[in-house]
Amino acid sequence: MNLARFARVRLGHMPTPLEPMDNLSRHLGGPRLWIKRDDCTGLSSGGNKTRKLEFLMADALGRKADVVITQGATQSNHARQTAAAAAKLGLECHILLEDRTGFSDAAYNQSGNVLLDKLHGATVHRRPGGADMQAEMESMAAELRAAGKTPYVIPGGGSNPVGALGYVNAALELVNQAAEMGLRIDHVVHATGSAGTQAGLVTGLVALNTGIPVLGIGVRAPKEKQEANVLALCQRTAEHLGLPGIVKAEHVVANCDYVGQGYGIPTQGMVDALKLVAEREGILLDPVYSGKGMAGLIDLIRKGRFGKDENVVFIHTGGSVGLFGYPEAFDLPKD
Ligand SMILES: Cc1ncc(COP(=O)(O)O)c(C=O)c1O
Repeated sequence: MNLARFARVRLGHMPTPLEPMDNLSRHLGGPRLWIKRDDCTGLSSGGNKTRKLEFLMADALGRKADVVITQGATQSNHARQTAAAAAKLGLECHILLEDRTGFSDAAYNQSGNVLLDKLHGATVHRRPGGADMQAEMESMAAELRAAGKTPYVIPGGGSNPVGALGYVNAALELVNQAAEMGLRIDHVVHATGSAGTQAGLVTGLVALNTGIPVLGIGVRAPKEKQEANVLALCQRTAEHLGLPGIVKAEHVVANCDYVGQGYGIPTQGMVDALKLVAEREGILLDPVYSGKGMAGLIDLIRKGRFGKDENVVFIHTGGSVGLFGYPEAFDLPKD
């Protein structure tokens, strides 16, 4: 596997730290928990999309784009990091935000990621929940082309075979880091949404023949749909890498029992997990992805899914900026 043959612009601080979570491990009575700090990728407060954008933005520049278009939910971390990457590279940026939750409060609609989208100079466009966001992006691209511009459309979450290379690279980074530390990784766990993170990790770990299983904790779709989406993207990513057919259905596992009422809607498990990690480890998760991912991991630990002496790496995919869009979710004492 030779990632160096794919164009990449450096946007993030890598390698991100791989740290033990001793307090949380002790609190739960094992397994040994580790955290891969992809919330520390640096770009506009960091997150998993930075890795994908290194390859996507290089592709955009290679195609002489002068404007990028992308989409996400109102509190999209992907949109925020895309806005920041575009700012750094001198590209115009249009962001289409879908109202997936129906929340009408000012914090959700104007603070957190939305505030930062605008600070980075992106133009924000709103669309109702259920809109065909890919079609909306294509129609905006057509308008921009008619105005003489060269748009580059990035799919939601940056999840296509180009973006997923960012997580193939993360797999490589993680395996090298663990080897240097003498750490045997038994499981990798993370929140899975638009599928690119899991597809890149699985494809990379399979290509490296590591035998390390990845468990995606779903935040939106039911299990069958999520696993099908991830597998399809793994297969396209493997082809893009010149390794067709290496990823099989058994490599792709998602648990979608922790979504709750729907995408972006807080659950008690998320609130408890987020507070526990904030209080025991001094680490901020996010309410939409990593908080639900950690809620799933903690519940599965309590149900005995992992051996007490196993090493479990949680990939912190970022998103804590989104906390400012959810000030009422945590029922904190008023002072
Ligand atoms: C903080 C955070 N974690 C996890 C994910 C899920 O990653 P993916 O969309 O690649 O499945 C996202 C995607 O938006 C995210 O913003």
